[in-house]
Amino acid sequence: SAALEGSNAQRGLWSSRLAFILAATGSAVGLGNIWKFPYVTGENGGGAFVLVYLLCIAVVGIPIMMAEVMIGRRGGRSPVKSLSLIAERDRLNPAWKLVGAIGILAGFLILSFYSVIGGWAISYVGTTASGQLTGQTADAVGAIFSGLLSDPTTLLAWHTLFMALVMVVVVRGVRSGLERAVSILMPALFVLLLIVVGYAMTTGHFGQAVAFLFQPDFSKLTTSGILVALGHAFFTLSLGMAVMMAYGSYLPKNISIAKTSMTVSVIDTGVALLAGLAIFPIVFANGLEPGAGPGLIFQTLPLAFGQMPMGSLFGTLFFVLLIFAAWTSGISLLEPIVEWLEERKGMNRTVSTLGAGIVCWALGIASILSLNLWADFAPLGFVPMLEGKTIFDLLDFFTANIMLPLGGLLVALFAGWVMSREAMEKELALSPGMFNLWLITVRFITPVAVAIVFIYNLM
Ligand code: PHE
Ligand code: NA
Repeated sequence: SAALEGSNAQRGLWSSRLAFILAATGSAVGLGNIWKFPYVTGENGGGAFVLVYLLCIAVVGIPIMMAEVMIGRRGGRSPVKSLSLIAERDRLNPAWKLVGAIGILAGFLILSFYSVIGGWAISYVGTTASGQLTGQTADAVGAIFSGLLSDPTTLLAWHTLFMALVMVVVVRGVRSGLERAVSILMPALFVLLLIVVGYAMTTGHFGQAVAFLFQPDFSKLTTSGILVALGHAFFTLSLGMAVMMAYGSYLPKNISIAKTSMTVSVIDTGVALLAGLAIFPIVFANGLEPGAGPGLIFQTLPLAFGQMPMGSLFGTLFFVLLIFAAWTSGISLLEPIVEWLEERKGMNRTVSTLGAGIVCWALGIASILSLNLWADFAPLGFVPMLEGKTIFDLLDFFTANIMLPLGGLLVALFAGWVMSREAMEKELALSPGMFNLWLITVRFITPVAVAIVFIYNLM
């Protein structure tokens, strides 16, 4: 394992713990927190769903993030190479190769629709800046949103712009400037969320929202809701597709993997919960439907920005910062496939970025059409569980709820059963008690939990 010890040195490490946290937070905090968390919470009945989601973060997400970062740092190479180095095999077992394959394919599929939603955020910069939201009713705000969804050309234009933003950064390969921007813009997004929460407290429905989010009503929890909560834990922490493994390969040896993983997870969870506290009071105050679906934040936040003092300014800033958060996540979604094309297919960075980006952009058109012309087209509607799901819904479902948990399950099994205990003890540098707790989790608890949720949902 001399090769393992030395391999990091040649690659240039993150300058500090902070640099890793900024990159990992840039990937983790995104549309998953502000767009997806509130709407899946609304669709799945609130409190009980949130509780399961938080449990999944604690029991499955954080241990798997630690495992990914640890495997990446130990191997010191790209994810698939790290796995084969650690397994001490030249040719990797197909099961572990699947981790790399899932990373590449899931990132590609997620980005295709992620970029469409990023496009919605871009569109709302203009909507808020123009002042047209000022004093609007819920109906008028809803009409603006339906107008956007029913217009494939506008959706395509913003989707194209978002994808171009992602590709520009990936082509250049270096993004130290972007990571430094995370340290200013993420806190700014946090502050703006706090401002919306402050407004939400004045609506008179804050208590109702808190109860909705934190008072579990288990009669509302379904098996499919549990699958969504598990899948969302992976999605929101950018787990199960080897992103954190790739980032971990740059982490200096003396830095605590447990502490950094906890920090990233706590920030990510905090942003999501804050988004929930910002949005649900507005939902209840305006008699809107918590289960309204993917449009939820675009039907609620504009109301707040239309009513609060300096709303146009705050609203514009908010959507600009949301685009930035989505952008840094989008980059980490495109990166794995571009690296794979470079390493395996011998393409240069420009060609691989253009190739992957354009195909991904084209696939995004299917998600755009799912919102209008193909809104009633459910290609797999004959499967009871997938009834009524558009192409957009299916892409989201398969990536977040199947591919990422499967990738995470394999990572847990690799750490739990393949890696040497000695190497892991050294990498994690935990107290014996904490180490055993972590090991039991990745060996048994995580695999069993994922397996049970999968099996229950298939039945
Ligand atoms: N974690 C990102 C978000 O919450 C999405 C993402 C998933 C990014 C998987 C990278 C990998 O928005
Ligand atoms: Na997230």
